Amino acid sequence: MKKAVCYTDIHYPVGNVDDKMFSSFTEHLGRCIYSGIYEPGHPLADEDGFRTDVMDLVKELKVPVIRYPGGNFVSCYDWHDGIGPKENRPKRMEYAWTSIETNEFGIDEFCRWARKVGVEPMIAVNLGTGSIKDAGDLVEYCNHPGGTYWSDLRIKNGSKEPYNIKYWCLGNEMEGAWQAGHLSAEDYAKKALEAAKIMKWVDPSISLIACGSSYDMLPSYLEWDRVMLKSLYDQVDYLSTHNYTLNPGQGVSNYLASWKQMDEHIKNSVKVLDYVQAQGKKKKEIKICLDEWNVWNFQDIKLDSLADLNGMTTFEITSAGKWEIAPPILQEKYSLLDAVVLGGLGISLLNNCDHVEIACLAQLINVIAPITTVKGGGSFRQATFYPFELLSRYGRGKAIRPAMETETFQSIYGEANLVQTAVIYDEKADEVHVFAINCDEKEDVELALQLQGFGDRKLVKHLAVYGDNLEEINTIEEPDRIVTREIDVTDAGKAVLPKASFNVLILK
Ligand code: AHR
Repeated sequence: MKKAVCYTDIHYPVGNVDDKMFSSFTEHLGRCIYSGIYEPGHPLADEDGFRTDVMDLVKELKVPVIRYPGGNFVSCYDWHDGIGPKENRPKRMEYAWTSIETNEFGIDEFCRWARKVGVEPMIAVNLGTGSIKDAGDLVEYCNHPGGTYWSDLRIKNGSKEPYNIKYWCLGNEMEGAWQAGHLSAEDYAKKALEAAKIMKWVDPSISLIACGSSYDMLPSYLEWDRVMLKSLYDQVDYLSTHNYTLNPGQGVSNYLASWKQMDEHIKNSVKVLDYVQAQGKKKKEIKICLDEWNVWNFQDIKLDSLADLNGMTTFEITSAGKWEIAPPILQEKYSLLDAVVLGGLGISLLNNCDHVEIACLAQLINVIAPITTVKGGGSFRQATFYPFELLSRYGRGKAIRPAMETETFQSIYGEANLVQTAVIYDEKADEVHVFAINCDEKEDVELALQLQGFGDRKLVKHLAVYGDNLEEINTIEEPDRIVTREIDVTDAGKAVLPKASFNVLILK
């Protein structure tokens, strides 16, 4: 059997994993909100029309923060449409996903739902087609206690107490021509700066997240961040970037090596942050908010080439027609292989926790999501639910730097470890959690654990996402084909990682 060793010493930490590391994202897109979160009349809906089965699944994932209302949607959205009596709310053409938005669900419903599921909202403002005044008014509506037009309107609409929303995104993916109201880096910097000023005047306690760049196929990749950060560095708290992982279709091992691409993506953002910080002699350090990440294989999006994203000219969604209400779009069916890959991406998040403070799995329900619902029917956990749940449950604490002795292989992302790990010391539970991906699609690998400075530790539990058929998916009829499985521990210091698997090893 192939062998690997993970050496780790408690004296070499990466940093503390912020509690917001395994957050998520919900957008007015497809069936994420309508018949996902909200389905009045559903047998399991509560008095607000919120599906309680979905709330229970969200609680299982223990996500601390949820970003809302978009995504590309936000750049076309007027938040005023979603407040007040539902019968007065307008139906609008929603340009980003060519759907009809009924506005039955808006900021008040979202904050109410978030409170019920015990998560903190992170709100994106529209800096595409929206104005800086709209952004300031939304902060006033949400966070001002009362005695002003917008705060009194919130009270009239049923929320006496302010929502005190701390995290605010200054737009979404403003670098891309597919964004309604797309701006150049210079124009975005000007608009975002003015919005930031107003928003902080209304509530100085808020934290602001600036749009960085996300797509390396755009010529503006990273240059956008440099230009934007030169103006905004002192005003903002986080740099946003997005990273979607696509099966490159060049073999299973290449796909399993995607954790390497995620690692590089994060490090690229760090490089530009470091440059602007050093060049401007700034003391302040800006953290990364990776507010959209996931595996996304574009199962129903037809792109002739990635260049089509520049204007969405031939961008076609094959799963629904145009201008439908909550159409079933972007409902990816995740395989076991996708789940293992997602676990690997989580390993890279943990190994970069000194820079990434917030990361949002995009998205949460029905749309490229770990949770799927049937309209009027049941719900189930997609394969990707399981690695994300493991990361969220065991990925909290202090990340310790691992040094791997392992075979490597040539991947399209460069030379990659066959076994890659992240190590967490959970001080509260006094446990060590070793996350490991085995990128060998054909063979199991034995992983030995060499821990220094943790005291006497024994491997007590081995949880893994693996199986014989990497193409397997969960369905509403057979929801448990892929679950987290427990593997018997036979040795206190080593474990056998099944071929193409994502693992958590718990040491006490
Ligand atoms: O999450 C789906 C879409 O991906 C979001 O709307 C957008 O921000 C990104 O391109």
